[in-house]
Amino acid sequence: MPASKPGRAGGKPVSLVKSILVLHGPNLNLLGGREPRHYGIATLDDINAGLKARGEAAGIQLEAFQSNHEGALVDRVQQAGREGVDFILINPAGYTHTSIALRDALAAVAIPYVEVHLSNVHAREPFRRHSYFSELAVGVIAGLGAQGYELALEFALRYLHTKVSQHGSQKTEKTH
Ligand code: DQA
Repeated sequence: MPASKPGRAGGKPVSLVKSILVLHGPNLNLLGGREPRHYGIATLDDINAGLKARGEAAGIQLEAFQSNHEGALVDRVQQAGREGVDFILINPAGYTHTSIALRDALAAVAIPYVEVHLSNVHAREPFRRHSYFSELAVGVIAGLGAQGYELALEFALRYLHTKVSQHGSQKTEKTH
């Protein structure tokens, strides 16, 4: 993804179609049955299907990727940089509180992102209050369950739309 990146200019991919990558960290593949009092009953497939449908309706490319492995997530972020992905929604899950490597990858590609947490990490154990990601994020959503992803996507769509309008053309080269 994205399939229709037609070329590069100034070293950065240029595209007619905006693309969003949704990244899910470790154990989020277990959603639906995993500690529902914290994470709800929606499965990861449910969440991804809703986001993909909304993305399609908005005319953007949206891909979701989940991994239980830090290196795989780092690789996927680097790939997103090469692909010219426009925006990332990320729930780093347990890596939120530990992964300098994943944070560094996001800083390296400089793709704007929203950090999403299903649970209110500030109302739980103290170790969940620190995130390596929040400082670099455009924004953070926590505690709104699966709806948090939907709201993050709505934000991203408006953010990308505003950016396109500001530059006056969908062919605008990415500046982030
Ligand atoms: C989480 C919160 C993290 O603290 C936890 O390790 C997760 C999920 C959330 O979505 O609420 O795995 O990111």
